[in-house]
Amino acid sequence: MERSLGIWLLLTGTLAIIHIGQAQSQQGFISLDCGLPPNEPSPYKEPRTGLQFISDAIFIQTGKLGRIQANLEAEFLKPSTTLRYFPEGTRNCYNLNVEKGRKHLIRARFVYGNYDGLDTAPTFDLYLGPNPWATVDLQKQVNGSRPEILHIPTSNKLQICLVKTGETTPLISVLEVRPMGKDSYLTKSGSLKFYYREYFSKSAPSLRYPDDVYDRQWTSFFEKEWTQISTTSDVSNSNDYQPPKVALTTAAIPTNASAPLTNVWGSVDVGEQYYVYAHFAEIRELLANETREFNMVLNGKLFYGPVVPPNLLITTVLSVSPDTCEEGLCNLQLIRTNRSTLPPLLNAYEVYKVIQFPQSETNENDVAAVKNIQATYGLSRINWQSDPCVPLQFMWDGLNCSVTDTSTPPRITTL
Ligand SMILES: *[C@@H]1O[C@H](CO)[C@@H](O)[C@H](O)[C@H]1NC(C)=O
Ligand SMILES: *[C@@H]1O[C@H](CO)[C@@H](O)[C@H](O)[C@H]1NC(C)=O
Ligand SMILES: *[C@@H]1O[C@H](CO)[C@@H](O)[C@H](O)[C@H]1NC(C)=O
Ligand SMILES: *[C@@H]1O[C@H](CO)[C@@H](O)[C@H](O)[C@H]1NC(C)=O
Ligand SMILES: *[C@@H]1O[C@H](CO)[C@@H](O)[C@H](O)[C@H]1NC(C)=O
Repeated sequence: MERSLGIWLLLTGTLAIIHIGQAQSQQGFISLDCGLPPNEPSPYKEPRTGLQFISDAIFIQTGKLGRIQANLEAEFLKPSTTLRYFPEGTRNCYNLNVEKGRKHLIRARFVYGNYDGLDTAPTFDLYLGPNPWATVDLQKQVNGSRPEILHIPTSNKLQICLVKTGETTPLISVLEVRPMGKDSYLTKSGSLKFYYREYFSKSAPSLRYPDDVYDRQWTSFFEKEWTQISTTSDVSNSNDYQPPKVALTTAAIPTNASAPLTNVWGSVDVGEQYYVYAHFAEIRELLANETREFNMVLNGKLFYGPVVPPNLLITTVLSVSPDTCEEGLCNLQLIRTNRSTLPPLLNAYEVYKVIQFPQSETNENDVAAVKNIQATYGLSRINWQSDPCVPLQFMWDGLNCSVTDTSTPPRITTL
């Protein structure tokens, strides 16, 4: 850690056996097949992943069921072939139970598949409680969209809402929530929006559960300037991040052994903040006179180094505070040190953008009281979903709230 500027943190795995049986049992996973018809079995086991999916019916009171065009079904896993769509109401919400204060991976999947025969893919917004999360534009994302965040819920209820923004009808295919480990993906503020997650292998399949105990999805990636190295030995992935073992068994090195290993990504919005997680393991048996040692350089500045990947054991180098990239381009380089006899290597890495959810939810007691009244009197108004007060344009009919600044939970004043 000698030359660390304090912005990167090195986290080396231990060879001690960490018990991961719990995560492998899908404990705490919420896997909803939205729009699963009531006559089909629920739960069912999705054969490719082994994930247990259930119908979304008890988590939402509104919407209608649809199924993508038959000739497209083979392109998707079963949970994405049915959907729930929302011809009525502006905001329609799922209500899920989660563990307050624990980090969760939250992922939604949207596949249009011409379910309505109109050949017009919709555009709409996705909210997390009172805060905007993403715009879903299925005109642009013809193969479906899959927004994902790493987020710590502030209450035991998680509301995920689809909000109509124009003429087209919102829809949803799959909703997935995975509890994460305590000490991973920490941020100074805000949550993390998935940007990409890659492992370096030529033409390998994408990975998720059960290879990844947290069901993160990893795609394989390779550049023409690189050469692949691989091992058939077991690589220990035991640290707070636990990327799939198989993602660590291959790595990229620059084909020109004196050149850096370079990764570039585009930054659309100026000032966008990133967190980077790079996973390394030495997977070549080094001779006594060989050394692999390199520095990590982001946009020309040393961020961490030197890195000496341990033999068949994971090391993760991560940002402990967010980085921004100037002029719309981020450039991460691994540059061998002058005492290294081997080029740098990279097995897998992840990049996230910071996303803020500034609006506080309405006072918990007020919400409980109004929900109680709703239940007692069997009130079911289409707009009585998710947060009663915020955002203001979706305030429940018949309520008045006092809403001050975003960090103060709104109060319900009259009913
Ligand atoms: C959609 O998927 C098809 C088939 O896999 C692929 O050829 C096409 O490039 C994809 N389109 C986009 C925009 O990703
Ligand atoms: C290999 O990389 C070094 C350092 O970047 C460069 O000076 C050299 O020209 C490269 N060699 C080839 C054949 O591209
Ligand atoms: C390391 O040693 C091997 C033989 O033991 C030799 O072939 C090789 O050239 C040496 N490599 C370096 C970088 O000195
Ligand atoms: C290696 O690089 C460092 C700093 O870049 C320099 O101080 C040192 O003299 C170099 N060593 C050799 C053997 O070239
Ligand atoms: C909410 O407040 C407005 C103005 O302060 C008032 O006119 C309205 O009657 C109130 N609504 C309810 C349901 O109390």
